[in-house]
Amino acid sequence: DWTMASFKGEMIQAIKDQVGDGQVICGLSGGVDSSVAAVLIHEAIGDQLTCVYVDTGMMRKGESDQVTALFRDHYDINLIHVDAGDQFLTLLKGVKDPEKKRKIIGGTFIDIFEAEAKKIGGAKFLAQGTLYPDVIESVSFDGGPSVTIKSHHNVGGLPERMDLELVEPLRELFKDEVRALGRELGLHSDFVERHPFPGPGLAIRCPGEITKSRLDILREADAVYLDQIKKHGLYNDIWQAFAVLLPVQTVGVMGDQRTYDFVLALRAVTSTDGMTADYYPYSHEFLGETATRIINEVRGVNRVVYDVTSKPPGTIEWE
Ligand code: XMP
Repeated sequence: DWTMASFKGEMIQAIKDQVGDGQVICGLSGGVDSSVAAVLIHEAIGDQLTCVYVDTGMMRKGESDQVTALFRDHYDINLIHVDAGDQFLTLLKGVKDPEKKRKIIGGTFIDIFEAEAKKIGGAKFLAQGTLYPDVIESVSFDGGPSVTIKSHHNVGGLPERMDLELVEPLRELFKDEVRALGRELGLHSDFVERHPFPGPGLAIRCPGEITKSRLDILREADAVYLDQIKKHGLYNDIWQAFAVLLPVQTVGVMGDQRTYDFVLALRAVTSTDGMTADYYPYSHEFLGETATRIINEVRGVNRVVYDVTSKPPGTIEWE
């Protein structure tokens, strides 16, 4: 694509101009945005880039292995893997408010990046895969007085004390453009087509207090749900799909036993930019089969519901 190719060239030049001979660290989340940002910046400045993948303990099943394998096997990019699950969970203990969760997670990310930046001999820049919708949704709504809908951790949640300068090459792009850029950069189409995944990860898919055991239940249920979607060939028709583990227990029966387990909500939407969205019209068969599989395969869930809310008035995530 000629347009994307020339745009890529301009962005590479802009990154070189901004960074000079400075060191950049880039947070990799496993999502398309941060990965495309990393590969683009790597093309611009090579070894001056170090990527940091933080395992927050709130990643999807298998996510950490997939991401580190991709960057180690396919790219010659400096990569540091930080295992910070315990640190995040300790800080999030007892926290229920979604905005507080985002602030804590965003702040902890920055602490970790700053520590890693020092270790690699003083990075001056922090790169992020912030997109245009992240920028506008974090700043204001409807052009009116500035109202924060959600402080996306990669924009609004940054503590002011942060002393790294931001490099955000995707700031003017929408998701479909980032995907086109990713293809232009040679990323595999399976990877480029991945659904968006939010920086705070499963933390905002566990309404209420986050615990290791609830995260483990959610991770298993989410994996079964995604497996169903892929088996039925629906993955690429859907913009984003995930499970939400509600802090509500309900009564059920399994065999001749009474159960008292959690409710799991399934979400799937179509969208072009994440700013508006419609719920995905699954067949009843698909929903029934998926609910049965989840309840049979995942301990801790005995009821599954499907979210049929569009955005607006709902948001895509539940928090
Ligand atoms: P909402 O829920 O605001 O989501 O309709 C729109 C898109 O943004 C993602 N999202 C986030 N991404 N940090 C992120 O990096 C966040 O705090 C965050 N909150 C929502 C969401 O997954 C969807 O793709």
